Amino acid sequence: MGTITFTEYDGTSHEVEFADGESLMELATSNGVPGIDGDCGGEASCGTCHVIVDDAWIAATGPRSDEESQMIEMSPECAPNSRLACQLKACAGLDGLKVRLPEFQM
Ligand code: FES
Repeated sequence: MGTITFTEYDGTSHEVEFADGESLMELATSNGVPGIDGDCGGEASCGTCHVIVDDAWIAATGPRSDEESQMIEMSPECAPNSRLACQLKACAGLDGLKVRLPEFQM
């Protein structure tokens, strides 16, 4: 258990409680966080769950897979700390994680 904070492009924040093993995409969609659609169901093939990890949490979230990187690089707001929320699994080590949503997902 823990919390993750999603911040929309306009600054609106949503603090969401998680159970270990849920993906950030699942957390966002089940808690009504706008801007994360998860159209492919978590297969890293739609790019509708793009989040940008807070600089302080880059190491904790680990590296992207090649598949994830390929999808993110097609995004108009690709950043070095961009991730697909479906590929990030909530766990105790990510308690307190902060991510923000890119402008194009408003
Ligand atoms: S839900 Fe489709 S890429 Fe994450």
